Amino acid sequence: MASKLAKNLKGQKMFQILNQVQELERKGKKIYHFELGEPFHKTPKPIPDRMIKSIRKGNTKYTSSFGNYDLRKSIVSTTKKTRGFQPDINQVLITTGANSIIYYLIKIICNPGDEVIIPSPGFPTYISACKANGVKIKYLKLNDKNNYQIEIKEVKKLISKKTKLIIINSPSNPTGVIQTKESLVELYNVIKRYNNIFILSDEIYSRITLEKNKFFSLSSLDKCLKKVVVLNGFSKAFSMTGYRIGCAIGPKEIIEKMRLLSETIVSCVPPFIQDACITAIKLNKNFLEKDLLEYVRKRDYIVKKLQQTRLIFVEPNGGFYIFPSLKKYKLDSEFFCKQILKRYGIALVPGNNFGVNCKYNFRLAFTSSFKDLRYSMNKIVTYLKNYEN
Ligand SMILES: Cc1ncc(COP(=O)(O)O)c(C=O)c1O
Repeated sequence: MASKLAKNLKGQKMFQILNQVQELERKGKKIYHFELGEPFHKTPKPIPDRMIKSIRKGNTKYTSSFGNYDLRKSIVSTTKKTRGFQPDINQVLITTGANSIIYYLIKIICNPGDEVIIPSPGFPTYISACKANGVKIKYLKLNDKNNYQIEIKEVKKLISKKTKLIIINSPSNPTGVIQTKESLVELYNVIKRYNNIFILSDEIYSRITLEKNKFFSLSSLDKCLKKVVVLNGFSKAFSMTGYRIGCAIGPKEIIEKMRLLSETIVSCVPPFIQDACITAIKLNKNFLEKDLLEYVRKRDYIVKKLQQTRLIFVEPNGGFYIFPSLKKYKLDSEFFCKQILKRYGIALVPGNNFGVNCKYNFRLAFTSSFKDLRYSMNKIVTYLKNYEN
């Protein structure tokens, strides 16, 4: 009955786990949430205040499918400040959630059968969006021994005549690693030799850097004029996951096609949400600085606890994830995550959802309260100690 592409649809495992644990919560079980990449703290108050004011003022009608002009203008100026170049306003598109950008871009530049290179481990939507578009996935394996940095010789091995797109993500979900400037410049210099290959630079965690001055956007090399499309959004840094709004910056012709696709599917993004984002961008830096300190504190605590185990892990320096491996325990992470959920109510995501060769890893999003984190880390450490004995 369903089409071939529909048969391949995978969705996002995190949401499937969320449904499962919410069902357990409805039955009265206490759940400790480490499965979704969703900041624990509330959206800073000026943001919902602005949204409500906007609704009350009657800003509740259709808007341009490009997105609100003033919001796009503020994205243009933020890009100048943070990435050193000023895109034309028609290089900026507002979308419903940043997630949709991945699907839109693949749809716009690939034909079924073309190839897309994605990081492994990497964000599961890259896999789903490729499958939904009938393109072939080539996994760029990132190795913990090399701090999950991109290895150019591996990229070169994967490029073929059918390659249309390479997706990179820094800071990364699920590893929490920021790519070095050197890795990214080298990557850009290789890709720029190929006329028909684009780069999607997923920078949704760019404001969440746990070490200062580490983040580099390769969009600054291309100014998003030829090869590079930047994916960014408001969900993570501003704790606005439920607002469902994102932003793409790219070459005008690509953005125009993405706009038409977005217009075809959702028409436009709710105008009061776009207003709220104008306020988010202007928000006092202190809001974010406070959250960053909190993430650093949690990261340091997790690292200290994991050092008491035989888990293999790379210390994250961006985003809010860690991706430890149970390899030394020869413990499959599907089994481990099920056990941890059943015994202690701790929700994690098994590694095989993030690509190939990840069956020993699990992802922990350190976005919960410190109290929940302390409880959960103690339980995980105890479980592993008992497992060994
Ligand atoms: C790497 C990455 N890209 C994109 C997204 C999508 O973000 P949004 O919630 O704005 O759609 C996420 C969300 O988890 C993510 O982790």
